[in-house]
Amino acid sequence: MTIEYHDIKPWGRSFDEYVRMFSLTPADLKRKIMGCGDGPASFNAELTERGGNITSVDPVYHFSVDQIRQRICETYDDVIGQTRKNQDKFIWQEIGSVEELGRIRMSAMAKFLEDFPAGMIQKRYIPDALPSLPFGDKEFDLALCSHLLFLYTDNLSLEFHLRSLEELCRVSNEVRIFPLLDVNANRSLYVDHVIDFLKTGKRNVTEVKVPYEFQKGGNTMLKIY
Ligand SMILES: C[S@@+](CC[C@H](N)C(=O)[O-])C[C@H]1O[C@@H](n2cnc3c(N)ncnc32)[C@H](O)[C@@H]1O
Repeated sequence: MTIEYHDIKPWGRSFDEYVRMFSLTPADLKRKIMGCGDGPASFNAELTERGGNITSVDPVYHFSVDQIRQRICETYDDVIGQTRKNQDKFIWQEIGSVEELGRIRMSAMAKFLEDFPAGMIQKRYIPDALPSLPFGDKEFDLALCSHLLFLYTDNLSLEFHLRSLEELCRVSNEVRIFPLLDVNANRSLYVDHVIDFLKTGKRNVTEVKVPYEFQKGGNTMLKIY
């Protein structure tokens, strides 16, 4: 897949959201973690601050901090506008309004932007992309993939999903994917194919309920080990 600058919509969640989306325990947070498609999420910055071991991979890291900042600003109105039009697909409880959502996301992305230059030097941010990752076999204890696989069911093929999951399983002992819904908050048509494919490859796969739900019905992750 060729990633074009204009194709990439940088949009990032917070450490607290990652912890709940993936049911991360204090023991999980001490593991060697890889975040695939982390983009401008603040998970890497905040986990590093807490002494964690985290590497994030995303094609957006090919760009400079100023280019990413500019892209976030350009994207903001579009993403917030789309969310406003589709408010019925979300649960407005913990996040009370579209405006509050915008503030929370911008605060997470500001933390990322502040951390990005140092993180690039420390190789905590790796510019690369699925379905092929620049890591050795089982280099990580835990790979997390938030809001990329399954979410973009309309844009990314089933074959891309299968190859990407194989690759995540190659580089990590355990893989967790969230959400299992597409952008319209429908269960992705790929989920059952993916589960069958992974089970045929003798992997343990479970769908696990998590303490996070923003897209309606989006409260499970896929755990592969
Ligand atoms: C909606 S954002 C999610 C960001 C973050 N994971 C979060 O949940 O806040 C999707 C991210 O996937 C990245 N992405 C797109 N194609 C990718 C690929 N083939 N491999 C890895 N990341 C990719 C984009 O650059 C973008 O940062």
